[in-house]
Amino acid sequence: MVLILGVESSCDETAAAVVADDRTILADVVLSQLEEHRPFGGIVPEIAARAHLEHVDRLVAEAMARAGLRFDQLDAVAATGGPGLIGGVMVGVMTAKAIALAANKPFLAVNHLEGHALTARLTHSIDFPYLLLLASGGHCQLLAVLGVGRYKRLGTTIDDAAGEAFDKVAKMVGLGYPGGPQVQAWAAKGDPERFALPRPMKGKPGCDFSFSGLKNAVRLLVETLPQPLSERDVADVCAAFQAAVADSVGDRTRRAVAEFTRNWPEGRHLVVAGGVAANSALRAMLEKVASAGGLTFLAPPLKLCTDNAAMIAWAGVERFRLGLTDRLDFAPRPRWPLDPDAPKARGAGVKA
Ligand code: KG4
Ligand code: ZN
Repeated sequence: MVLILGVESSCDETAAAVVADDRTILADVVLSQLEEHRPFGGIVPEIAARAHLEHVDRLVAEAMARAGLRFDQLDAVAATGGPGLIGGVMVGVMTAKAIALAANKPFLAVNHLEGHALTARLTHSIDFPYLLLLASGGHCQLLAVLGVGRYKRLGTTIDDAAGEAFDKVAKMVGLGYPGGPQVQAWAAKGDPERFALPRPMKGKPGCDFSFSGLKNAVRLLVETLPQPLSERDVADVCAAFQAAVADSVGDRTRRAVAEFTRNWPEGRHLVVAGGVAANSALRAMLEKVASAGGLTFLAPPLKLCTDNAAMIAWAGVERFRLGLTDRLDFAPRPRWPLDPDAPKARGAGVKA
């Protein structure tokens, strides 16, 4: 049996997990820094890096204790090597390298996005290729997952990430951070048809996303409403925004499903990952889009959709099995696209 320790510290979660190659998660601990960043309404990189440094040793020790293992019983140690906030990535990489060196085990630098991309193979036994929608606070991409380390990007955002748009809209209507869950809760009480909002990119060629025009449309709409907003207005704005996102992402994904099934007819699944995959309106839309396109929709459990270390340990398992270990002089990568051949996306604020 292959046993891998994974460490994740690229954003605002410090996490450690131990995963076996038979797909058992022996331990999976996550510490969210939500409270530390909440007063600022977003993530502060310096605060994040310091908090990772403060907690990572304890979380690793806790994961190892829960798994009932010593370091010398591991086969390798994996850490997120990028992309992400560089201060945090350095903390995780340094920790994993030190353990690997001390226990004389190989070190694996895992691409955080590959962690998300391969999670479906940890939770479900599915084969390559499959189509992935990765929608989080930092990313919004459609990828054909062809194998470990083999990705073809079909679409990406040309401005904001989907989760970022949820967070900004939440702020505009006076809801706290992170916005996604609150926008969803308020949308459930609202009327999605009272306000008309644009469906960015809908009907356009290709599979790219855009959310900044929609975000600005919400800002302009909110400015026309009496202040402070009534509960009814907050609910209706949230419902209209969420419906617009679901429609727009549905349209982009529909095109990606067509392109995917044309190029890789042996593919069977549409998979989601990232925190925005928690959104039930979006899930319902994706379920429809997948089945209309002849694919089965798969969503890993929520805990494994948002940032965690089990996905890093699992990507470590996949890479270790192929002999893809890394040297101890690996340098953390703030940017690390899964498909390096994909053209650079236009627009500001593009993360990958
Ligand atoms: O994957 P994640 O936990 O962290 C990274 O960004 O890597 O994703 C967090 C994002 C946040 O922007 C949050 O607002 C969004 O996912 N999110 C949601 C929901 N739950 C979390 N967006 C829409 N609906 C939700 N229910
Ligand atoms: Zn992530």
